[in-house]
Amino acid sequence: MKTIFSGIQPSGTLTLGNYIGALKQFVDLQNEYDCYFCIVDQHAITVPQDRLELRKNIKSLAALYIAAGIDPSKATIFIQSEVPAHAQAGWMMQCISYIGELERMTQFKDKSAGKEAVSAGLLTYPPLMVADILLYNTDIVPVGDDQKQHIELTRDLAERFNKKYNDIFKIPEAHIPKVGARIMSLQDPTKKMSKSDPNSKSFIALLDDPKVIEKKIKSAVTDSEGVVKYDVENKPGISNLLSIYSILGGMSIADIEKKYEGKGYGDFKADLAQVVVGALKPLQDRYYELIKSEELDVLLDQGAEKANKTARKMLKKMENAMGLGRKR
Ligand code: TYM
Repeated sequence: MKTIFSGIQPSGTLTLGNYIGALKQFVDLQNEYDCYFCIVDQHAITVPQDRLELRKNIKSLAALYIAAGIDPSKATIFIQSEVPAHAQAGWMMQCISYIGELERMTQFKDKSAGKEAVSAGLLTYPPLMVADILLYNTDIVPVGDDQKQHIELTRDLAERFNKKYNDIFKIPEAHIPKVGARIMSLQDPTKKMSKSDPNSKSFIALLDDPKVIEKKIKSAVTDSEGVVKYDVENKPGISNLLSIYSILGGMSIADIEKKYEGKGYGDFKADLAQVVVGALKPLQDRYYELIKSEELDVLLDQGAEKANKTARKMLKKMENAMGLGRKR
């Protein structure tokens, strides 16, 4: 069976972008692959985090994974910092990365632009992500479009390591959804929807109340044409809403366009709000049940145990290839 690895940062509530770009894919793929879904807390500390909030967000993300439909009896869900091989392998990957290639990562450029105190971790975060992926002999990495460059780096570093030391890594591939790879901000549809956006009207959080979701969709920026038509160049706002409708409503974009022919944006937005609320309701109900229960800790312990077993094996191969420690 082929292996999937992916991760999400526990840095605030997840958005509809995270759900469509990543989580929903995880659920759709879990039956056909051996899956590892990681809560990447070590990535989260590349920017300042409040200790108590971080702890809360880690648990919350574990609950969201399961509430979204990941079945822990099929997929392994675990916390990155509970599997020390990630940091160990991440260090090795840093040592075969070039500063220049890390400085060229668009996420690094975006996140460091205009900031005075940028942590070294923000620069060396991609080699840690490379280690995350390579430790599991991963074939496929389901992610949104913004992670494409990091997966390309993963492929480059795996090949570099294989050539320089020993041929131990598979070369993984990104799995990016055809529709919804980049869900855009509701307030500025030329920008990615992001949980760190200071304007909360720009994103829908997975745990937003139905009333809040309705309001946010109603105030989403569109255009003055009044025609529900997919045209990313000229109508980025409506196109973004059409993508969300299509994925969560299970209808093709062409069928949705037909349904709203001759109708205004008001009707379309009101129905879209119902589609989003309807899609998130079961997830929210399950989330609030799970977060109260003790089930999560048991599942995370089991996940860490399984992940540690797999990761340690690859770590040993890496150390042997590089000549670290003693041969065992
Ligand atoms: P993160 O936590 O920023 O995002 C998690 C996942 O959500 C996707 N995503 C989106 N997809 C569509 N539209 C959007 N607006 C949107 N916003 C976010 C992201 O593409 C991602 O798939 N570096 C990663 C976490 C990571 C990882 C890994 C991923 C660490 N190690 C190993 C895969 C494999 C990150 O910061 O994702």
